[in-house]
Amino acid sequence: MRILVTGGCGFIGSNFIRHTLASHPQDQIINLDALTYAGNPENLADVQADYPDRYQFVLGNVCDQAKALEAVERADAVLHFAAESHVDRSIEDPSAFMTTNVVGTNNLLMAALKVWGAESPNRFVYVSTDEVYGALRLEDDRAFREDWPLSPKSPYSASKAAGDHLAQAFHHTYGLNVSITRCSNNYGPFQFPEKLAPLVILNAAAGKPLPVYGDGLYVRDWIFVTDNCRATDLVLRKGRAGAAYNIGAENEKPNLEVVKLLADLVAQAQGKPAGSLHGLISHVKDRPGHDRRYAINAGRLREELGFAPDLTFDQGMAATVDWYLGHGQWCERVTTGAYQDYYRRMYEGR
Ligand code: NAD
Ligand code: DAU
Repeated sequence: MRILVTGGCGFIGSNFIRHTLASHPQDQIINLDALTYAGNPENLADVQADYPDRYQFVLGNVCDQAKALEAVERADAVLHFAAESHVDRSIEDPSAFMTTNVVGTNNLLMAALKVWGAESPNRFVYVSTDEVYGALRLEDDRAFREDWPLSPKSPYSASKAAGDHLAQAFHHTYGLNVSITRCSNNYGPFQFPEKLAPLVILNAAAGKPLPVYGDGLYVRDWIFVTDNCRATDLVLRKGRAGAAYNIGAENEKPNLEVVKLLADLVAQAQGKPAGSLHGLISHVKDRPGHDRRYAINAGRLREELGFAPDLTFDQGMAATVDWYLGHGQWCERVTTGAYQDYYRRMYEGR
């Protein structure tokens, strides 16, 4: 397969590309990425070196119709990860979220329809999120199921739900071979340190405050990123046309518990006792409209596609802390934006 991956220089996209090239030796990947603050070709430096004939990076914005068309013309599958992905930024200013996540998705769907035609077997996977379902209450014992109506609550999730609806509409109306993934919170290597797990690890290591929004009892359902990549790969190859698949690993945790665990893993690496970094925890102003709880029912993925996660939550968190503590320079470079202009100049016009 020639797979067009969008947003492959980001967190999940870069892990997905590495996973696919290693596990499917016949496949080729074109990575279309605009290199926003969250995208960095350095995340794929090893891939570029290891697979020069099977991997190609193309600098481009999914909102650019000509670029989208050109990229789809070279592919027989699309894995659409590219998005503005941070809820807090969407609350500050939703504009970029509407452009990339809605207009960009429409562009790619239109390009796929134009290039492949209706009823083509070529697959388009839209990477949605569990946040499109809205929020659960803490006392609610239900978990999100694929047939629930979408009820997004933040500008980010509203933009992702718009893309999700569009992807469904392209299947229903034009017969495009679309499948959708709705995954829970990912953690692991290469996540931009604005998200909870890397932020807490880096702050704990530096002895800085660990910001916990509100009471810290908000619940997220965690999955190690390579487990999500394996599940996404299954949906790409074996998922039903027109179907959405929840992806999760049954790890519902309150934020405060996650923060304490990460702080303890950092303390352990520094030869300090458990609990010694808990004093850094600082309850800060809550996120406006903060969704109380997410929980994934991944029964469809398990029963139809045979998926089971490889890593437990404790194994994944320990591996994540190890990775960040061993990649200080990467963290420094991505947070300061160093090399971003260099990479843009290098790939401009290619
Ligand atoms: P990320 O922010 O780390 O990476 C996004 C990537 O998309 C970056 O490389 C960025 O440069 C690129 N990009 C942004 N706008 C673009 C544009 N207009 N054109 C081309 N490229 C553009 O995001 P992530 O955490 O890796 O998430 C990837 C996808 O998975 C997103 O669609 C997100 O909504 C979804 N998702 C994420 C999670 C999670 O926990 N991180 C969970 C469920 C779903
Ligand atoms: O559920 C899937 C979603 O998970 C993805 O669709 C999003 O792209 C991804 O960013 C993530 O969204 P969250 O808002 O859940 O992730 P974040 O890491 O920003 O926050 C996780 C929880 O921790 C959330 O309840 C807010 C809280 N939080 C976050 C930060 C950054 C804190 O308490 N302190 C913080 O400093």
